[in-house]
Amino acid sequence: MKRIAPLLVALASTAAAVAADTSDIAFPDGYRNWFHHHSTVNMTGHAPEGNIGLQHVYANAAARDGLRTGTFADGATFVVDRFKYVEDANHSLTAGDRKVVAVMVRGAARYPETGGWGFQAFKGGNPAQLAVKDGGAACFACHAPHADNNFLFTRGTN
Ligand code: HEC
Repeated sequence: MKRIAPLLVALASTAAAVAADTSDIAFPDGYRNWFHHHSTVNMTGHAPEGNIGLQHVYANAAARDGLRTGTFADGATFVVDRFKYVEDANHSLTAGDRKVVAVMVRGAARYPETGGWGFQAFKGGNPAQLAVKDGGAACFACHAPHADNNFLFTRGTN
């Protein structure tokens, strides 16, 4: 074990250089009282399949300021609250079970490998069920083309 410990430390620090650990990103309590920016329905056929659902995008006060100014202070946070969608009577789409609460937290120095954003997601909206275990690399792959908009899909203040 004495010989293994320094090796593990070395491995851990190598991993940290690739992407920060985002397991300490807290569940965004109270996000349903934040600014609701917009909602989207990703219908059957949307890719990737995992993103199919009815989703609401929320911004906390700092994130809303960032949408106005173009500069996001550390702590600025966005949430995507995604549900299954259900076709209801009389041609209505309604929210079914919650699929995920996905979070982006601004930390310019903390998350250099993922555009200055920390990515985490909570399966089923359960604060104990962390979905992101790769430091947000897979999340960032999809957000990276939006470098001109701070790696966000969401634009404008609405
Ligand atoms: C396949 C592409 C893709 C992947 C992978 C992806 N996202 Fe997104 N993300 C989107 C799209 C598209 C939107 C815009 C959603 C809308 O407008 O309803 C978005 C929006 C967001 C937002 C709201 C802020 C913004 O950029 O508009 C957050 C928060 C977010 N995603 C978190 C995550 C997290 C956490 C992960 C990884 C678990 C992730 N995303 C992975 C495509 C992706």
